[in-house]
Amino acid sequence: MKYVWLDVDPGHDDATAILLALHCTNIRLLGVSTTHGNAPSDHTATNAARCLLAFGAPPEVRVYRGANKPLLVPARHDAEIHGPDGLAGVEGLPEPDDPDVLSWFATDADGAPIRALEGMAKAIRETWDKGAGHRVTVVSTGPMTNIALFVAAYADLLEAVEEFVFMGGGVGMGNRSAVAEFNILCDPHATQIVLDAPVKTVMIPINVSHTAIVTNALHQQLLCPGAPPDTEILPPPATNLRHTLSTLITHFAAAYKTVFGFNDGPPLHDALTIAYVSQPELFKTIRKRVDVELTGTHTMGETVVDVWNYQPCDDSWGVTGKNCLVGQSLDVDGFFDLLLECVSRCDAV
Ligand code: BDR
Ligand code: CA
Repeated sequence: MKYVWLDVDPGHDDATAILLALHCTNIRLLGVSTTHGNAPSDHTATNAARCLLAFGAPPEVRVYRGANKPLLVPARHDAEIHGPDGLAGVEGLPEPDDPDVLSWFATDADGAPIRALEGMAKAIRETWDKGAGHRVTVVSTGPMTNIALFVAAYADLLEAVEEFVFMGGGVGMGNRSAVAEFNILCDPHATQIVLDAPVKTVMIPINVSHTAIVTNALHQQLLCPGAPPDTEILPPPATNLRHTLSTLITHFAAAYKTVFGFNDGPPLHDALTIAYVSQPELFKTIRKRVDVELTGTHTMGETVVDVWNYQPCDDSWGVTGKNCLVGQSLDVDGFFDLLLECVSRCDAV
């Protein structure tokens, strides 16, 4: 069993990461923290609760609200892709002001909200102390502000972290500048802090996530399992959940087509982090030194991957070592099999 803490900025593809984290049979999700990112933090926090409710989360998996802004740079959001509230066009989720949504935020015995760092630290400490020494995998699908603050504040708990797995960065490519990917560009300093932590770090870059495309044929299978492949017209949704996911894919596909010219469908970037935790054999990876460009005029936020091993590095994770396992490729069919299985399990809840 993998014990997982998930930090998100939902976000269409973040929503699919939440679904996978709830329904991969070898993952126990401990909690979900939220960050600024695709939308301002009020929205991402509420969206996480809406997704957890819609995807059948057990009552112990709550939302913990985290950072409202990056460590040093001004906050930026991505309304162009995700809409002003982060989940534009997605139908069938509980409304943001639904009392069930508002009551899904973690609170202490006095009813005060428990914030991201506190919730993350408590879950990791308890899993480590009480669970016969189970380490926790911390997964990030947004800007890494919360994770960096955790590294800085809870150095004593880092031995209880199995690994940091994040979606972000690129090897020689970006999507929000020529070389910077959105999550890293939003908080480059936070990313460097996480890469420098003495913990194994796994990066799923856009070079890999751009292969996880929801094609029209996959969209049809998502809507209605067993529908004849390659028909032009989408079949009616078999369930309400499948309708919700279809509207999510439809919006995401339209945005990716308009903004990036993706004609075959949208890439499900964030879901790959959870797929990696559940089935690492779906990925080819290579261990490299990775740093973030923090000062470049044209390159701020670039993940600088030392592909040719120029830097002298030791075998440790962190400041002096090859600090990151970098995703190189994905078994795309295997990933979508896992996604469709998780949707079926979610449907059965
Ligand atoms: C990343 O940026 C966001 O738009 C997505 O949610 C994903 O985490 C892809 O660059
Ligand atoms: Ca995201």
